[in-house]
Amino acid sequence: MTALSVPNASTNAGLLGLGVYRPERLVPNSEIVDLIDSSDEWVRTRSGIESRRFAGDHETVVSMSVDASRDAIAAAGISADQVDCVVVATVSHLLQTPAAAAMIAEELGSTPAAAFDVSAACAGFCYGVSLASDMIRTGSARHVLVIGVEKLSDLTDPTDRSTAFIFADGAGAVVVGPTDEPGISPVVWGSDGARFDLIRQEAPWPVKVDPDPESLKGSHVLRMDGNPVFRWASFEMAKVAKQAIERAGITVDDLDVFIPHQANMRITDAMARALKLPKHVAVARDIAQQGNTSAASVPLAMERLVADGDAKSGDLALLIAFGAGLVYAAQVVRLP
Ligand SMILES: CC(C)(COP(=O)(O)OP(=O)(O)OC[C@H]1O[C@@H](n2cnc3c(N)ncnc32)[C@H](O)[C@@H]1OP(=O)(O)O)[C@@H](O)C(=O)NCCC(=O)NCCS
Repeated sequence: MTALSVPNASTNAGLLGLGVYRPERLVPNSEIVDLIDSSDEWVRTRSGIESRRFAGDHETVVSMSVDASRDAIAAAGISADQVDCVVVATVSHLLQTPAAAAMIAEELGSTPAAAFDVSAACAGFCYGVSLASDMIRTGSARHVLVIGVEKLSDLTDPTDRSTAFIFADGAGAVVVGPTDEPGISPVVWGSDGARFDLIRQEAPWPVKVDPDPESLKGSHVLRMDGNPVFRWASFEMAKVAKQAIERAGITVDDLDVFIPHQANMRITDAMARALKLPKHVAVARDIAQQGNTSAASVPLAMERLVADGDAKSGDLALLIAFGAGLVYAAQVVRLP
């Protein structure tokens, strides 16, 4: 039988460059709270959010991704035409097809890179990093651009008390490529579809135009039963994070940085306590200024830590992200 040709040596993979895009408009709690009968104090105390950024009309899922990606590609020291796969994690690209990834690849000058979108909600970036690592290790790609991007303001009901103050917009991107030493640990990931309705798009996109105007009234905004999600994230996700540390072959003392999905400051605190993080581990708290940007939150938080001098290139970072599905993923990476 003729043997198929496959790479016989696996290549180590790691993060080579990081870039982010934070939308121009800063939105303080005071702009949000009147419509939801809330207060700046309630939002700060219950979620840790002080402000967030909402994208304007000129800041789209594609444009924010392109901006973040240009910086990631430059930081990686490669050119756009060396990217041979683009993976976009998002739930707010409003076209079911074509994928945002193909448009982004074209704008960057990465065509004919393979391109596809991942629908794994807030966990999407960590899913993408895992896919990219596996592609590089098995020889399917040499440089993979992984983008987490959301324009959740398009999908948020400003009068919904459980989501209006949480969700926000932004983009983050990393280039994943070959490295001398392993830079991305095996992922620990999973799902719990029995709880699919805790965070959900309320109605599907219209299938066809119906002459009855009543049928078009379905709202496509996101709805969330916040408290069960809060309890699930606070208790279950620390266990997943512990497994990721074990699978990376390290201990919590080896970590330099903890970058959880920026869902709620109290969830971050609960996980940090459960993991018994030593004092030297820097904890990402980007949610205070950025809100919950779903798939974009981990790379945005990563960039903030580095920009503020709380983390540096080469640091070992535990990433964990979780959200609608319910889905989750965690891995340890070396910061680019
Ligand atoms: C949304 C969230 C901040 C609410 O905090 P919480 O502590 O769970 O609050 P609860 O829903 O239990 O409500 C507590 C009280 O605050 C009130 N409340 C709810 N939303 C409010 C708001 N926006 N402003 C003021 N009061 C509010 C409730 O009516 C309730 O009042 P009661 O005690 O008189 O009945 C929190 O559940 C959360 O962060 N959930 C997870 C978010 C998340 O991670 N989402 C994405 C996953 S990726």
